[in-house]
Amino acid sequence: MKISPLSPIGVFDSGIGGLLIAKEMKIQMPNEYFIYFGDTQNMPYGEKSREFIRNNSLKIASFLYKKNCKALVIACNSIVSNALDLIQKKFHKKILIFNVIDPVVKNTIFLSYKKIGIIATPATIHSNFYIKKIKKYYHHLDIVQISTPLLAPIIENGWEMKKISPVINSYLNHFKSIDAILLACTHYLFLKQEIDNFYHGKVHLIDIQKIVVKEIRKKLIENKLLCIHSTWGRLPVFYTSSHRPIFFEKKVRILFGKKVFFKTHVFNFV
Ligand code: DGL
Repeated sequence: MKISPLSPIGVFDSGIGGLLIAKEMKIQMPNEYFIYFGDTQNMPYGEKSREFIRNNSLKIASFLYKKNCKALVIACNSIVSNALDLIQKKFHKKILIFNVIDPVVKNTIFLSYKKIGIIATPATIHSNFYIKKIKKYYHHLDIVQISTPLLAPIIENGWEMKKISPVINSYLNHFKSIDAILLACTHYLFLKQEIDNFYHGKVHLIDIQKIVVKEIRKKLIENKLLCIHSTWGRLPVFYTSSHRPIFFEKKVRILFGKKVFFKTHVFNFV
C-alpha cells in the first residue's frame, strides 16, 4: 500500500480516553485526517489479561493498517505497556507507530522532580512498564504507583462529579508528598481539573497530551509525512466495537463537532 502525507492516522484506545489525544492532534496538526477506534465492547482493558490485550490490540492495529493509515497512535497505556513490542514488530518499517508512554518517560521534565506518583489501570501497573522505563532514564527519581481500577469504567460511562470525587480523593490520599503526578491512563485526562483541585495546584500535572502530540508531529515532519494541505471534505471517522455508545458519541461531538462519522465494527475477539 502506498502511503502519503494525505493518508489517515489511526488512533485507538479501549474507549473515550484516546479522544483527548486525537483532540490535541487536531490542535497541533489541524490538517491531519484520522480514523479512531474505541473498543467499547471490551472496555475496561485495565482489567483484562496480558494475552487478551495483546491479541485484541493487534486486531485493531491491523484493522486500521488496512485503512491505509500512514501511522498508528496507541492512545491507551494498558495496550502500550502490554503489547507495544508485538505491534511494533508486526508493523516494523511499514508504518509509523506512536504511543502515549515513550515520549513522556523520555521527557526531561523528570529532571526537575524528586518524587512522582503514577496512577494507572491494574494492567499497566502490573506490567511495571513505567517503572522500568523511567528508572532507565532517571535513576534519581523516587516513584510511587497505585492502580486505580474504578476510575476508567466510571469515566467511560459518563461520570458525575459528586460520585467520582470521593473515589479520586480516596486514591490520591495514598500519595501526597509528591512533586508531580502522571495520569498514566488516557481516560484520566478527563479528570485533570479535579486532580489539580485536589492538590490545590501544588503538585505538577505532567501534560501528556502536549508531550505526546509534539513528538508525533516532529516524527511526521522528519518522515515527510505531515499533511500540509487542508483536509476539507474528509470527516474524521469514529469506530466503536459496540453499537452507537451514547456517552462516547456525546464526547466526540463535544470535542470534534457535528461533522463526524460514526461506525460500528465488531471483531471476533478471543
Ligand atoms: N485508556 C486506557 C489506558 O490508557 C484504559 C482504560 C481501560 O481500562 O480500558 O490505559
